[in-house]
Amino acid sequence: MLSVEENERLTQVGPGTPTGELLRRYWYPVATSADLADNPVRSVLILGEQLTLFRDGKGRLGLINQRCAHRKVDLVVGIPEEDGIRCPYHGWKYDISGQCIEQPAEPAESTFKERIKLKSYAVQEMGGLIWGYLGPAPAPLLPNWFIFVLENSFRQVGTTVVPCNWLQCQENSADTVHAEFMHGTWFRYILDRAGNQDKDKRAFANMWLRKHSKLAWEPFEHGIRKFRLQEGQDEATTRSWQIGHPMVFPNVVLIGGPGYSEFQIRVPMDDTHTWHLIYQVFSPGPTVQVPEQNPVPTFHVPIHELPDYVLGQDMRLWELQGEITDRFEERLAESDKGVILLRKQLQEQVSIVEDGGEPINVFRDPSKNERIDLPFYDIPLDRYVPGVVKSLSQGQWSPHMERIDQMLIEGAEAERLANGFSELEASNQLEIG
Ligand code: FES
Ligand SMILES: [Fe+2]
Repeated sequence: MLSVEENERLTQVGPGTPTGELLRRYWYPVATSADLADNPVRSVLILGEQLTLFRDGKGRLGLINQRCAHRKVDLVVGIPEEDGIRCPYHGWKYDISGQCIEQPAEPAESTFKERIKLKSYAVQEMGGLIWGYLGPAPAPLLPNWFIFVLENSFRQVGTTVVPCNWLQCQENSADTVHAEFMHGTWFRYILDRAGNQDKDKRAFANMWLRKHSKLAWEPFEHGIRKFRLQEGQDEATTRSWQIGHPMVFPNVVLIGGPGYSEFQIRVPMDDTHTWHLIYQVFSPGPTVQVPEQNPVPTFHVPIHELPDYVLGQDMRLWELQGEITDRFEERLAESDKGVILLRKQLQEQVSIVEDGGEPINVFRDPSKNERIDLPFYDIPLDRYVPGVVKSLSQGQWSPHMERIDQMLIEGAEAERLANGFSELEASNQLEIG
């Protein structure tokens, strides 16, 4: 349980707030490349700041103040031009640094525009996402987590705006035991209520009904590693117990399965909204040639009242904890040790920034940023069971799952060993967060 003040301290994301200042030390997705290809000017709400993102005619990215300096029109309706964005009201034009470079109605000799500069932030593109950095200069390196640099892989991004504070989403990943109830008991109830006999969904729900016999968490250099063992699993050979899977500080969890990795990225929009991205990477091995993707496709993942898919269940219950959950009234128990550890880590890192230090996962040495690997059980692709990715939680919202399934089937068949394994064993290799 936290005090009212501690709860505020850990959940406020705006400029000048303790956690807001910590969160400003990191890069965040502010749009997908596909979204920007669709419309080169977009409104962005991030860390409590409303901004305008645009791509100029030369392909350069700008992340600047929401409104024109002149008479405060929202630049979301701006006109992208070769060297900047033009306000449609009186034609003032800004370059990607926010510098005003034209004021068409002013006398030709006027130097007024030189004194007009909008707030602007660092912005980069990587892996099908547009990333922004709102912190103090110099900006750190945009981290090359392995998932963004995996080669010969099919990528897709599913996005949702969840109407709650980001920390609820991240705490959920440290709350291992919820899978048994939310994705087991509740999932089955939802299917029963709807009379849904979908075999794959039922198998998925039944798999998670299995009780946890052991739970563990430990801090590591990039965040928290979490470990689980379920009844009937052998301690010595179960990867989710021996190797576990990581939460990447401050706002990411890595999940995956055979030939499949996923970052769930929780972008704090403001104190009560989170832009949730599932960044999925499917790697069908060397025998399958994955075509170039430009841009990486994006799809929307909705939230339903009684969702029959895993991520929908997570998102629905995050929302139902309240916009900012009342941590000063909760009653934490033994199985909440992961949540407690996450809060402790967050508090520690907030204090480091308050004391003028650099928090974890801020990278400045290019030699350490070529590819950042994470401790995750590497499940051989030959374990891939046809249809598994399609039955995965949010997969049903993607228009590409048939094709992805085919690629993984092909790749897995090419690698499959003679000694097979049952479908249930293979399904158990999935980690859902
Ligand atoms: S309000 Fe933008 S140019 Fe006048
Ligand atoms: Fe979950």
